[in-house]
Amino acid sequence: MFRFTLAVALPLASALALATPAAAQDTCEIAEDRFEMDEAAVTALYDCMSDRMFEGYTKEGNEIAGEYRDWQVTATRAAVAGPHQNRFLLTFVNEIGAEQYLKFEEDIEMPVGTILAKESIGGRDGEARVGPLFIMEKVDDAPEFGNWFYSGVQPNGKELKISQKFCHDCHGGFDFQDSMGYPVEEVRLTAN
Ligand code: HEC
Repeated sequence: MFRFTLAVALPLASALALATPAAAQDTCEIAEDRFEMDEAAVTALYDCMSDRMFEGYTKEGNEIAGEYRDWQVTATRAAVAGPHQNRFLLTFVNEIGAEQYLKFEEDIEMPVGTILAKESIGGRDGEARVGPLFIMEKVDDAPEFGNWFYSGVQPNGKELKISQKFCHDCHGGFDFQDSMGYPVEEVRLTAN
């Protein structure tokens, strides 16, 4: 009798094991060496995280979060640049700044009213997590910060607490291109 039970229980256990890959799809995977992920892997990661990012950023009704997905995307896919904590980054630009931004030029000045919104995906141990939405808005009354107003939205939709100085201490290093870092060259969307 005991033997018989065991013989029945084992196939049942392996049938259950077969069911686990479905559950694993809830995890969007990020490689241990994210710089080594190829285009297809990064695109799959982005597709897996896309709704999660948008749902998170818009949770508390942030206005820019609700709009940026309708703006001009600036790269062919998300990519890791290094800064912004090695997260995968993808920037969108509103209509006011789109034409200028997509030139990816030096000696450029963005029109007042330009808004740049950058999604980010972070994570560790193979599991991707939504990172903050980083925002820069061109203004005319903040010369000490290159006339940019920096802000952000957390993955839970709440405002990201930041310091203008912290963001601009790094972005100001790109003062030769209006304090913008631009996406890494290999993914820049060409205007033509
Ligand atoms: C250590 C340097 C560094 C710091 C600090 C930093 N950034 Fe950036 N940021 C960059 C670089 C480099 C890029 C371009 C890389 C990319 O987008 O792929 C960039 C890109 C951006 C972009 C996309 C527009 C563009 O081309 O520059 C936004 C928006 C942005 N950062 C917002 C912020 C905000 C908000 C903060 C403060 C919370 C901040 N950044 C802090 C280096 C930095």
